[in-house]
Amino acid sequence: MSFIDGRIDGEKIFEGRVFPKILLPSKACEGNLIEIVKTEREKLEKMLKEHGAILFRGFDVRSAEDFSSVVEAFGHEEFPYQGPADRTKLADRVYTTNAVPLDVMISFHHEMAMIKEFPRRIMFFCMQPSPEGGETSIIPSNIIVEKMEEALPQVVEKFVEGGIFFVLHTKATYNKNGRVVWQRMLKTTDKIQGEKRAKEMLSCNTVKFNSDGTADFTFGPMNPVREFNGKRVMFNRILGYNTGERDAYVAFKDGRPIPLEATKVIERIYEDNCVDISWEKGDVLLVDNLTVQHARRPGKHPRIVLVSLSD
Ligand SMILES: [Fe+2]
Repeated sequence: MSFIDGRIDGEKIFEGRVFPKILLPSKACEGNLIEIVKTEREKLEKMLKEHGAILFRGFDVRSAEDFSSVVEAFGHEEFPYQGPADRTKLADRVYTTNAVPLDVMISFHHEMAMIKEFPRRIMFFCMQPSPEGGETSIIPSNIIVEKMEEALPQVVEKFVEGGIFFVLHTKATYNKNGRVVWQRMLKTTDKIQGEKRAKEMLSCNTVKFNSDGTADFTFGPMNPVREFNGKRVMFNRILGYNTGERDAYVAFKDGRPIPLEATKVIERIYEDNCVDISWEKGDVLLVDNLTVQHARRPGKHPRIVLVSLSD
């Protein structure tokens, strides 16, 4: 056996399975994750399907290039990122994570869930854990549906029947701390070209360029409850985010926002059922993007967590 089971604080059991699955190197394998992935690929795929997320801890992965080789060893096609986050390529298939300021929480989501096509898998790699906070938090998305159907059946019904709108508001000026402008997001300064790209590449339904340089992108209506791998998941973001630099809100099809009391219940469901991964240097986290959501807790510099998306 190339690996042994590990444990982390706060791990959870859902449907009789530990979440997430933690794998540590056995003495025999000398921590070479690339070789293990190559030889145990099928077993790891099955494990990912069953558990939704696997954390590889204690293996010898040190650089963006090492991480790139681990990603490659899984043998899946690369999935190109499209979306509002500003990412820098550091190695083949390896990018920086979202540059939103570290003191801000990035709320739970499936990667690229608003867009027509989305990656099936996300891999994260920790080069430098935050000195405080900065955890990546994960939650099985089918548990959100289950708990919401118990606590807020009418809200889920409304989601499924009419769908939701997701509105993203971009600011007028860019700074590298995460402020997003439409020109950078759409990689053009031409509004006609920008609108075309927003609709074609981001599956955005309406685009409004405002005279003050800001813009509003509306997605939907879309039913956020989808089915993947036999599980009903809350695929689209149902909680907005507000970083102070970039805003988004979610509304029912009639344009009315989700009531505050319901939002509070939803937030509670997330907090009660998520698992915070307190990063250790060299950690690699493999997440099934179809069934598990992720978020980033506020942290402190320096924190270096890299990402790779694949099909
Ligand atoms: Fe993300």
